[in-house]
Amino acid sequence: MATRLQDSLAFPAHVPQNLVRSIGLTASPEFLAAPHAFMAGLHDSCPPIFYDVHPAMGGAWQVIGHADALQILRQPEYFSTRGATPFPRDPDHPFKFIPLEIDPPDHRKYRAILDPLFSPQGVQRLEGMMRELANSLIDRFIDHRECEFTTEFGRPMPVTIFLRLMGLPVAMTDVFVNWAVDLLHSQDRALMAETMKAITVYLNEAIAEKKAHPDEGVISRIAHAAPGGVPLNDSEIFGFVIFLFIGGLDTVFATLNNIWLWLARNPARRREIIARPQDINAIVEELLRAWSVTFAGRTVEKEIELHGVRMLPGDKVACILPACNFDPHVFANPTVIDFDRPRRPTLAFTVGVHSCMGAHLARLEIKVSLQEWLKRIPDFAVKPGCEIAYRPGGVIGPKALQLVW
Ligand code: HEM
Repeated sequence: MATRLQDSLAFPAHVPQNLVRSIGLTASPEFLAAPHAFMAGLHDSCPPIFYDVHPAMGGAWQVIGHADALQILRQPEYFSTRGATPFPRDPDHPFKFIPLEIDPPDHRKYRAILDPLFSPQGVQRLEGMMRELANSLIDRFIDHRECEFTTEFGRPMPVTIFLRLMGLPVAMTDVFVNWAVDLLHSQDRALMAETMKAITVYLNEAIAEKKAHPDEGVISRIAHAAPGGVPLNDSEIFGFVIFLFIGGLDTVFATLNNIWLWLARNPARRREIIARPQDINAIVEELLRAWSVTFAGRTVEKEIELHGVRMLPGDKVACILPACNFDPHVFANPTVIDFDRPRRPTLAFTVGVHSCMGAHLARLEIKVSLQEWLKRIPDFAVKPGCEIAYRPGGVIGPKALQLVW
């Protein structure tokens, strides 16, 4: 039997009423006014695990406790990634998003195909190209003494790197940018489905081309992979390639946008970063803790009790990763950005078998962007009158960011 509060989703009978909340994650006006402050504030108003019944992102257990999230993410036998993504799929051409929607042990065979390319050493070979790219983007606007950061740097930086990595033409940048916006930020299911179709047609052609003419790119590597001597089938190849598009573009984009907004508002902290070049890796880690952008969804496979909370098979669970990174039991004064903080596992990329495959690539993109930008534009501010607004959705960052210097 399920119970329903007014204007809320139903909650199942095994959920105790004292754990029910309606928080409006990703969509309520309170969230959209200041998402990270909102998520940090959840620790004052909610227990570490609660059941959300708000129509936006509700109908699921929400986890904000750092220790609980670690336990969930490290126990795939209890918490599956089955059906973890919200993107529309053509029922006539079913596929899984690979590797995210594959549980162990099968999951390993897919990760092994690309792990060498995405290891710290693997991504290092891209560093020179990234530095050149960052500078060529900055060249386009530095003399104007202003730019719209999200479209002139935040978006083209990861999209161009992605296209080069995949072995796709950089001339496709604008098309990919539009696809990413329509698929990941439209609340319109019809537009999302149409965009998904266009991406599907393009990627299937690209896969066919790479099968016929192998190259060094990621698509070619996936298309020619034969783990254990068995080639991947068409649906596996497609599911892998499209998940990289979904996982790798918007996350870096939103992270850069959040960090640049903070930098623009905090001149003393910019100067601190410039004065501590030897600490750049710790700086990137702390910025990723404070400005993490997404969530990790799971479905309960086997009954389990966690922190006194009973979860049953089929229950949905979402780890609110930015909130976990503000857990005051783990990070003292969590909303203060402190580059000298003792190192603890942060959850921007999650942990466990599904921890982000692109984490080293993303870290390098952020590091290079910070270094090259601050070298050439050390002083900048949000343009007076520019209002900061956030898009509802599963990847959090400001919509537009007009900067001046
Ligand atoms: C700052 C940027 C990024 C953030 C915050 C981020 C975040 C995440 C998170 C939270 C997960 C785990 C999801 C879950 O457990 O449910 C994940 C998985 C993944 N990410 Fe990222 N990501 C970023 C960049 C990238 C990039 C650049 C790529 C590749 C081009 C990438 C590819 C993947 C893949 C393939 C997975 C699935 C891993 C698996 O299931 O084994 N990500 N990412």
